[in-house]
Amino acid sequence: MCGIVGYIGRKEKKEILLDGLQELEYRGYDSAGIAVIEGEKLNNFKAVGKLENLRNKTNTFESEGFGVSIGHTRWATHGKPTELNAHPHLGAYSYVVHNGIIENYQELKKELQNEGVTFLSQTDTETIVHLFEKYHKELGDPFKAFEKTIERLEGAYATLLITEAAPDTVFFAKNGSPMLLGFDGNEVYFASSDTPIIGKANEVYYLEDGEYGYAKEEEVKLFDATGEKSFTKQALTADKALAQKDGYRFFMEKEIYEQSRVMSDTMIGRILEDSIYFEELPEDFFEGIYAIKICACGTSYHSALAASYLFERIGKMRCDVEIASEFRYKEPFLTDKTLFITISQSGETADTLEALKMAKAAGLKTLTICNVDNSSIVRESDAAILTRAGIEKGVASTKAFATQSMVLWMLALYVGQIRHSVSEETLKREIDAMLHTPKALVVEDKLHERIHRLSKRYLHGHGFFFIGRDIFYPLALEGALKLKEISYLHAEGYPAGEMKHGPIALADSELFTIALMPRSLLYDKIKSNVEELSARDATILAISPEPFELADDFIQTRYDSHPILEYFEMMVVTQLLALEISVRLGNDVDMPRNLAKSVTVE
Ligand code: M6R
Repeated sequence: MCGIVGYIGRKEKKEILLDGLQELEYRGYDSAGIAVIEGEKLNNFKAVGKLENLRNKTNTFESEGFGVSIGHTRWATHGKPTELNAHPHLGAYSYVVHNGIIENYQELKKELQNEGVTFLSQTDTETIVHLFEKYHKELGDPFKAFEKTIERLEGAYATLLITEAAPDTVFFAKNGSPMLLGFDGNEVYFASSDTPIIGKANEVYYLEDGEYGYAKEEEVKLFDATGEKSFTKQALTADKALAQKDGYRFFMEKEIYEQSRVMSDTMIGRILEDSIYFEELPEDFFEGIYAIKICACGTSYHSALAASYLFERIGKMRCDVEIASEFRYKEPFLTDKTLFITISQSGETADTLEALKMAKAAGLKTLTICNVDNSSIVRESDAAILTRAGIEKGVASTKAFATQSMVLWMLALYVGQIRHSVSEETLKREIDAMLHTPKALVVEDKLHERIHRLSKRYLHGHGFFFIGRDIFYPLALEGALKLKEISYLHAEGYPAGEMKHGPIALADSELFTIALMPRSLLYDKIKSNVEELSARDATILAISPEPFELADDFIQTRYDSHPILEYFEMMVVTQLLALEISVRLGNDVDMPRNLAKSVTVE
């Protein structure tokens, strides 16, 4: 995920920026850059890859005396990780850094291009600096120009802008992406989270959405839609580790809570009013394609399995799914009318990469759904759709799974749309549901507290069965995998209707059944499966919007309007359940034993 740092003062600015960006490294990035204005001098450096590369480029540059400065680490979303796409972006005499996504950038870019502006990068960010300079020419006042620029932006952003037109000033704005101001005497710091300024500033102000303003050495002015406003600084925490986790106990917990926000990022620019659009796919991408085969491992395999229901149901396209390590040695029969999709959070999983190479060698068209641009699997594929989850630190995948599921849902609808297999009514219903997803993923305190309390009853026993039907079956597999990975307890995911074909023999009071019972899909069917287990004295934890009298424990979910909204809500419940059980057992939640985040060996 991108990171922002800024500084106004007399200290060596390069060091402050590079140290600050180093503190944000844990968020992941693929390029970095800084810009400094000292007196009349404007300096800018960018480098692809690690910060070390940027350090090497700047080693002869020193910045002493009063000046303003901004820096950025970029995690590619619009455009490849190249030096041209790295921030800060330059206009004629101003620089900008930005986190988030400017939703209407294409429209703004066209407008500016028609007025003769040349764009150097493929990013949405570059529109900000050109808009600013356009309005500066028109209005003659840098702050008014900045204010007007911000008014035109739609989407989520946090941005800093410096300009030769006001060489003592940093302009800032926040809407949907985090940004804070740090203070130490006359010095002002800016950052997208507090780690870069811990030990430097002693007070902080966390900007609210819709706030913007400007800062000089002895003057900080804050505004929102109602005009100028006062603000109260607060003392800054000294605990860096806690700050990296944004105050959460574990990265996994932070990532579960982030799911609502990253889901919006995943959708931006892809859900239009009444259709789905993927900038990454040429219009004729699905021409001549009659079937889909998906290959993946672990959690990514589970998102693939859920998607196979959607490709067939919504997209009316045959879809089968294989575990990459199995696919590799089965001498698969491949036909060129099949689109081969690989799914991978890291883009480096050895088995998935090899499966992709095999499909390419057989002449299949390939598409990857991945969280890391420029990863091996992305580079190897004909086309790639990024999931935009931001870096995932917890070994147990959460937000990557959520965003994979979202992209696949959109893709299934896209297939239905281009093949004219979905009615306008269905298209509208699905799009409405998609837009509700961020809401379905908000973790309410009440829910987390309930799961925390319940978790103490599930620390023993001889095993867990997660059961569900339809898309809730892959979700059951994923719930069981999460629990296994971080609690080290035995757990299995099963199609609910299959229990009576064997596994029900295990049922007794020490067998815990986690039943996914959505209201909107096959409720009566799953209910009778759970009743069968209850009759054999299995201990039942029912997750459902519908109270279920035979359950020993019950977690009530909110949505019953669309199965996929229920899916996402139940996903959060299973993630939190695994987390709380793991915490009670004293395990290392973020780095469970025997596991690695990226499995680059066979
Ligand atoms: O990076 P990938 O998505 O290709 O990784 C695949 C699996 O190794 C991964 O999903 C693994 O199962 C996770 N630890 C799940 O939490």
